[in-house]
Order: sequence, then structure tokens, then C-alpha cells
Amino acid sequence: MAVSRARRSCLAVPGSSPKMLGKAQGLPADQIFLDIEDSVAPLAKAEARSNIVSALNEGDWTGKTRVVRVNDWTTQWTYADVIAVVEGAGSNLDCIMLPKVQTADQVVALDLLLTQLEKSNGLEVGRIGIEAQIENALGLINVDAIATASPRIETIIFGPADFMASINMKSLVVGEQPPSYDVGDAYHYILMRILMAARAHDLQAIDGPYLQIKDVDGFRRVAGRSAALGFDGKWVLHPGQIDAANEVYSPTPEDYDHAELILDAYDYYTSEAGGKRGAVMLGDEMIDEASRKMALVVAAKGRAAGLARTSKFEPPTE
Ligand code: GLV
Ligand code: MG
Repeated sequence: MAVSRARRSCLAVPGSSPKMLGKAQGLPADQIFLDIEDSVAPLAKAEARSNIVSALNEGDWTGKTRVVRVNDWTTQWTYADVIAVVEGAGSNLDCIMLPKVQTADQVVALDLLLTQLEKSNGLEVGRIGIEAQIENALGLINVDAIATASPRIETIIFGPADFMASINMKSLVVGEQPPSYDVGDAYHYILMRILMAARAHDLQAIDGPYLQIKDVDGFRRVAGRSAALGFDGKWVLHPGQIDAANEVYSPTPEDYDHAELILDAYDYYTSEAGGKRGAVMLGDEMIDEASRKMALVVAAKGRAAGLARTSKFEPPTE
């Protein structure tokens, strides 16, 4: 069963910085991920593990999805990262993020290690989820097998910086178009491929970082692209990006209200009292069962974001 958690904004916090581990607790991000991978220098990895264990156990992360990003399986660190974090703070952790996933067996290896750790530490087996980062061509080609490699998988994440490096893309700014590219969107295929795998297997699809942290308009532009396709959220690297992410990946209040209106109207019109009709006009719009499905998605996102209804469906009186 896929667990669905709010992930509009996923805040990256380097595990080597006790200051940032402290500050992150007060920020309005849906998810935090405490990093032992690329934001932590090799010589600081051991210290990052113990900082993260203390922060998870002693910090107040109420309302946030708690994730730790370990190093990928091609390094010498992964097993020790997972053991340190799960033995030290397994009951205060929701998911492990596995970066640079290339094959399904890398997910299986993490699943097996987690299962042993859960058993030997008296934790509920299978509770800790896995987030898989797709960061190179091989990972993208294998994304369906990766998405189904373990029932623990909750999200597929696009890692644009590593991905661009791995395919030799010439863009100067992560997530922006290559300068000489003027036909469509250079990221469209990658984003859509990840989104199709996520949707086919009932997982969340998450967009990666935007590194120009002072350029909030740029963040909104790049986030707007994956949000428009259907992605559930995006990484944030700085507090200044959090509000933008929460907004871009939530429906607008108007769209939310309209979706609730469609649900109520369709419920009424398909009923005995409403005439058992499957296609009806709501204002100027023709709605049917597919409209109801679209409305369900928007309504669920709006409810999760805590949006309030402003209008009410009134059945016709005549
Ligand atoms: C994130 O890890 C990225 O490489 O973009
Ligand atoms: Mg990366």
C-alpha cells in the first residue's frame, strides 16, 4: 500500500551542519531530508550521521515527513549510513532516500538491509519507506523496475544536477534550458518518463533542486513546469523557496473550490433525485465521470493543503 505524505516542499538540510539541522525544524516545509550525500564532504560523513541521529531523536519535527538521504550504492558509505541512522533513530524516521538509483536490485538491497535492521531493533517491519532518486540515463531507462522493486517505495525523484552532468547537457543553470536549445523543453521527456512510472505504480513524483536560491522567480518558473505536468512537489534548498513550492504545488483557491463544486454537482446529478444523468452542464462547462476524476485530484491536493471552500452547490429547485 503506497503511503501518501505531503511533499510539496522537500527541504534539503546538510547533516554536517548542526545549525541548519536546528533551524530546519521551525520552517514550513512539508518534508525535510537530512543529507549525508552530496552536500556533505567525505571527511564529514561520519559526523553527519551522528548529528542526524541526534537531530531526529531530540528535535521537534511535528507535521513534517522525516527523511535521510544516504550515499549511493557505488560508494563505500551506504551500508554504514543506513545502519547508523536506523539503529540510532529508526522510530523517528519516515523514509530513506536513495540517490543515483540505476537498477532495481539497488532498491532491493536497501529493502533487505532495512528489514534486518527493523527486525533486530524491534521496529515495525516495512514501516520505513524508500524514496528513489533518478539521476542518470540508466536509472531513467530502468525507472519502471525501480518503481516496483519494493513495496517501501513512496516517491520517484528527479535529480536534475546529476542528471544533466550524466547526459552531458549543456545548460548553465540547473533546470533551465540549454542556451542553444530552442525546440520545446529539454527536460520534458525526463520529467514525463518519471511521472508515468510514478503514476502507473501509485507513487509520488518529486522534482529536484533549483540551485539559484536567490532567484525565486526562476524557482517558480521551473517548479511551474513540473507542477503543470502533475508532479507532487519539489526540493527546496533555502527557506526563501518554501512558500513558493507550497503554493506552486497546491491548487489555487479558485481551482480547489471549483473542484469541490464539481464533486457535489456530479454526485447530485448522477443520483435518483438528480435524474441519474452522467453528462450535465455545470454553468458553461460539460461535466462527466472524467471531470469527477480530475476534480478528485484537485480536491485531494486542496484539502491536504488546508484550503477552505468558499461556495456551495445548490441543486436546482424546479
Ligand atoms: C540532486 O541530487 C541533483 O543531482 O539534482
Ligand atoms: Mg544528485
